[in-house]
Parts: sequence; structure tokens; C-alpha cells
Amino acid sequence: MIEKIEQIKQQFFDELAHVGSPQALEDLRIKFLARKGFIAQLFDDLKSVSVVDKPAVGKALNEFRTAAQAAFDEKKANLEHASRPAELPVDVTLPGRPKPLGTKHPITQTIDEIRRIFVSMGFSIALGPEVESDYYNFEALNFPPNHPARDMQDTFFISKKVLLRTHTSPVQIRLMERQQPPVRAIMPGRVYRNEAVSARSLVLFHQIEGLYVDQGVTFSDLKGTLVSFAKQFYGSDVQYKFRPTFFPFTEPSADMYISCFLCKGKGCRMCKFAGWLEILGSGMVHPHVFKYVGYNAEKYTGFAFGMGIERIASLRYDIDDLRLYYENDVRFLKQF
Ligand code: DAH
Repeated sequence: MIEKIEQIKQQFFDELAHVGSPQALEDLRIKFLARKGFIAQLFDDLKSVSVVDKPAVGKALNEFRTAAQAAFDEKKANLEHASRPAELPVDVTLPGRPKPLGTKHPITQTIDEIRRIFVSMGFSIALGPEVESDYYNFEALNFPPNHPARDMQDTFFISKKVLLRTHTSPVQIRLMERQQPPVRAIMPGRVYRNEAVSARSLVLFHQIEGLYVDQGVTFSDLKGTLVSFAKQFYGSDVQYKFRPTFFPFTEPSADMYISCFLCKGKGCRMCKFAGWLEILGSGMVHPHVFKYVGYNAEKYTGFAFGMGIERIASLRYDIDDLRLYYENDVRFLKQF
């Protein structure tokens, strides 16, 4: 009987070693391990073994059954693992597929560049709301009650006292209300004007406001700062001039011009044959404005400036229709 067990054991392990598919393994299971298989038959035979031999034979048979089941389970696991698809069905030697990258919008690029220059001169960044009150947009900036800028023609009113800001100057007021001098910040953002859309005017555009208030700030600080900006932004050989103008919130006020960088001042389409390009408005903060924010106008002075980003970007990239910035035409945008 022991011999017979040995023989069937041999046969089982031989055949198991040659099993190469789940089907062959299943056939093997039925042949040896199933209820009517060889091992079950051996247990039947055990009944006719003499009482003396039974313990030894029974032990050998039990050991065989346990070993056979374990070997079968292991083979089954191996086959299942091998039949799974490879974990990375990827040819790592193939060249990559490049993803098309977008570019920053030219207005964003222009704001980023202007920010970089002013931050390097010690200015911080401040932001304010686009929905403003009449107080911040006009009154605290010393606009007289019947100033034409308050006209329905220019301003989008939400109610009698609430409007879409027409410039970034109200952020100056908010900043000074919450911070004592020294204050040195630029304030970028969207502004709105109630105008017919054309190549030269939009209802939504961007400005960057600047403000520097401290003891002893003078007009030459204004000029030094803005000339330094213009040289960094337009090139160190740029010519400039300041021309007197009027803003309610500054006194004196000045527009800054640079020599046309296309024709170098000779006169061309870009500068409308003037040789000069206006790039920003500026001035010394009006003492009335300081009164509104509770600053001591005897102790502090300051300068402010404001520039239109679309205008600056158009000069820089020679773009003659402002509407192009907001049509989201990829052929236009990907040039930048
Ligand atoms: N707020 C003005 C505008 O919208 C621009 C401006 C001019 C801002 C002079 C200033 C400034 O801070 O000092 O046209």
C-alpha cells in the first residue's frame, strides 16, 4: 500500500510539473484531488489495510494529500498571475507626445513685467473691489460734485451711489485708510467705462495705479521713479518728458511721454507723427485727498500715477485694435 501511495505521489508531481494551462490543472485536480480521484480511492483502499499497518499507511496518505493540495494551490496561483496582462503595456522607448502649452495673455505679461520692475524698487501690491461706491471712486479723490467724469456717459452705475470703478485710483483711498505712511504700493486691476466699443476704446480694460506717501516725498522722487521705470521697461536710451495736466486728486499733475520707440522721435503712424507717446498720468497727492483718509497733509507728501495696460501693451507689441485682446483668438494669443 505504501508503495502504491509512493507511485501515485510520483505520478501526481510529474504531471503537475508539466501542467501549463488552467485547463490542464483542472484536469489534474479531477484526476487526483476530486471526490472520485486517485487520492480518494487510496483512502477507500485504506479501509482494507490491516490494523497493524493502518497508522503508518494512514499517516503517509494524509501527508501526501496535504502536500498535493498545497502544490496544487501554489501552481494555481502561479498560473493566474502569469495569465494577467503585463502591468505596463507601454513601450518606454517610444518618443513622448508633447502637450501643447498655452501662453500668458499679453495683458497678463505686461502687468507681470510692470509689477516686477516696481517690486524691485520696493513697491508692494494692493488690490481693491471692482464694484465701488461713489465715495471711493469720486468723492474721496476730490472730484467736484458735478465733475463730467461722473456723467452717465462714462460710468456704469449700479445704483445712485454704487458703480463699477472707472479707474484704479479708489484703491489708493482704501489703502491709505487702512495703513499709515510710509505707503508704497502699486495697484493693478480691471476698470470699466461706459463707452462704445471700438478699436480705440473698450468697456473693460486694465490699469496699474501707483502711490508713494512718506515724509519729504517730492516731485523729483516722482520723476526719478517713473523715469527709472520707463528705462527698464522701454530701454535705457528712451527719451522722456512731463507735461502739466489736470487731475482732481493730484496737484501739480503731469502726463508722462516717452519718445516714440518705433521712429525714435521722427514721427510715424504709432505716435501719430508727434514723435512722442503718452504713457501715464501722475502728480503729487492733493492735500484734500489726505484729509479724506485722515493723513496729516502738513507732515506727509506723496506722489501717485496711473497707467492703462492695454495702451502700454499696444505700444509695446504694435497692436492697432484693442478688441483683439478680448476676442480669445488663439492665432492672436499664441504670438506672445
Ligand atoms: N485715474 C486716472 C485715470 O483713470 C489715472 C491717474 C492719473 C492716476 C494720475 C493717478 C494719477 O494716480 O496720479 O485716467
